[in-house]
Amino acid sequence: MAIVGEKGAMRQWSRSQRQCGRRIALVPTMGFLHEGHLSLVSEAKQRAEKVVVSIYVNPGQFAPGEDLDVYPRDFDGDVEKLKPLGVDIIFNPRDLYVRDSPEKNGAGHETWIRVENLEKPLCGGSRPLFFRGVATVVSKLLNIVEPDVVVFGKKDYQQWRVLSRMVRDLDFGVEVVGCKLVREADGLAMSSRNVRLTATERKNALAIFHSLKRAEELVRSGETDSSVLIEQAVSAISHAGGRVDYASIVDQETLQSVDKVASPSVFAIAAWFGSVRLLDNVELPNS
Ligand code: PAJ
Repeated sequence: MAIVGEKGAMRQWSRSQRQCGRRIALVPTMGFLHEGHLSLVSEAKQRAEKVVVSIYVNPGQFAPGEDLDVYPRDFDGDVEKLKPLGVDIIFNPRDLYVRDSPEKNGAGHETWIRVENLEKPLCGGSRPLFFRGVATVVSKLLNIVEPDVVVFGKKDYQQWRVLSRMVRDLDFGVEVVGCKLVREADGLAMSSRNVRLTATERKNALAIFHSLKRAEELVRSGETDSSVLIEQAVSAISHAGGRVDYASIVDQETLQSVDKVASPSVFAIAAWFGSVRLLDNVELPNS
């Protein structure tokens, strides 16, 4: 397993592999890896001969005042976790953005990708520039690594949808795979940010998972009214001390809110416990 920090070297490696006819899979991450990330790596191994994992905490997707400075990092630990998995390259660029124009205060980057409609609902409400940053950095990674397949997790359901649409609309010519959300033994959605929860917040945050499970059960037993399902979730999470950013039942493709659970939909929640914003979702059964 090699660690590559330079864009040119990364591209050169990829091109030489492709010349030999080898398929390459890319797993983009921001590091502080957990089993959720590692499940994407296993999927990537199934789908290509060569696997590249990128580790880059992308400043372009954090707004001022968000948690960029305290985002957990453990590069050496990540390397140890990836070693046994047969990863070929860890791409760990020091800086992906050009900051070479002194007249612009060093901000030499000015091209951004917007996925105009899919970026607006859910996380787009409270983080209006988030998907602009994600779409742009993933475009850069796809242009540098030139993979045949790129693997994302459905933990970040909207992100997966936004990036799939971007790849389709801009003809990136890469296959996009979405993998199922991986949970802790007690049900909490795995996230690099979980480590920032206190023990009490960690316990209380389980209310998100429990309320999603409850919604799933209610749908199975015939409840189709989105407002009823949302109300029980918001009330359970608030009762546990969480602050709900959004709790929405949306169409799986368009991410537009649905009043009734009749077509394939997903119940997506973002909620704050202490200073940590957590995401979770379940794909609801069709009633
Ligand atoms: P990060 O949060 O590190 O996540 C990297 C990938 O792991 C994403 O595709 C995410 O959906 C997936 N993932 C995280 N937790 C998961 C879980 N519990 N189960 C399954 N998959 C999970 O998402 C990002 O980084 C960034 O926005 C990135 C795409 C790398 C762009 O900077």
